[in-house]
Amino acid sequence: MIPFVDLKTQYLGIKDEVDAAIRGILETCQFTLGAEVAAFERDFAAFQQAAHGIGVNTGTSALHLSLLAAGIGKGDEVITVPFTFMATVSAIDYTGAKPVFVDIDPVTFNMDPSAIEAAITPRTRAIMPVHLYGQTADMDPIMALARKHRLLVIEDACQAHAAEYKGRRVGSIGDFGCFSFYPGKNLGAYGEGGMVVTNNAEYARKVRMLRDWGAEKKYHHVLKGYNYRLEGIQGAVLRVKLKYLEKWTEARRAAAARYDRLLAPLGVPTPAAMPWARHVYHIYAVRTTQRQKWQDALAARGVQTGIHYPVPVHLLPAFADLGYHAGQFPHAEQAANEVLSLPMFPEITAQQIEAVSAAVGGVADAALRAA
Ligand SMILES: Cc1ncc(COP(=O)(O)O)c(C=O)c1O
Repeated sequence: MIPFVDLKTQYLGIKDEVDAAIRGILETCQFTLGAEVAAFERDFAAFQQAAHGIGVNTGTSALHLSLLAAGIGKGDEVITVPFTFMATVSAIDYTGAKPVFVDIDPVTFNMDPSAIEAAITPRTRAIMPVHLYGQTADMDPIMALARKHRLLVIEDACQAHAAEYKGRRVGSIGDFGCFSFYPGKNLGAYGEGGMVVTNNAEYARKVRMLRDWGAEKKYHHVLKGYNYRLEGIQGAVLRVKLKYLEKWTEARRAAAARYDRLLAPLGVPTPAAMPWARHVYHIYAVRTTQRQKWQDALAARGVQTGIHYPVPVHLLPAFADLGYHAGQFPHAEQAANEVLSLPMFPEITAQQIEAVSAAVGGVADAALRAA
């Protein structure tokens, strides 16, 4: 069996350090926020080349609090993409603002900058690009439009730790960068976690208050806040794991290059890595119009795959109230029908990649013969 991700192997490789970090929290009893969380905030913000980092309990909360710190709420509109995990859109919805979709670029699966201007109205307050699968959106035209129309940019970098755009780390290219430390992410907690990074001290102060009941000083609540604190154990574990993230990122990139070399000659559409990007391959997705057949055939050969994501957000029943319908975002809809994520994790071996590629080759060949 070749798993889609393998968190156990990674844990075993860093077990002593992780166990000691967890024991440290058990001994200091700093179970929520505390010194380890503060140290991790500093380390991670520096890693992403941002001035401030504020740890929160999930990536969704990072998005939610960034929007709130920006003063976005009822009556406002935020432009984003429908080809993403629903959390991007839910965070906008939580504030009372209206999510407004634009289509994706069919090559990168990221926000199509040329579609943005037509979606801007007098109510638009922000643009929320998603760095899907670990490759950045094309940020220069997005930032130029945002500045021209006085809009904020909140980067959904939940899948893009260590990713770069023209040599700059994601997260502080826009006004806010939001990260998830869900266990399967490139930097994953042993539970839930998230972080907002920003270069703006005032935004940082607001997010810091909002994650802890809107108080700067205990019981002196200035804002209506939330309990979105990052736990001490997660901060301690993440701080250990951050030291390995560069190495793990390079391992993912090497694995992707190996997949590319094996799959491209078979005619399988592999992910496009843009010249501006340091793609960090949170997901390695190929495309096929025969997805169900491929997925079943790969499963029969012991290869676990995933689909990110089978239904674009504008067609999810949960967001029917937004009033969108099929056909409005054809590139997002086609991607949702065709993408298939292959096993991808830093510890994946050359033999595993060869076995997956051979299995994909077998299915692709059978499909071609049947056609
Ligand atoms: C693109 C994207 N946005 C937001 C989130 C939400 O992060 P979390 O699960 O930590 O709330 C995720 C991950 O699940 C994601 O992949």
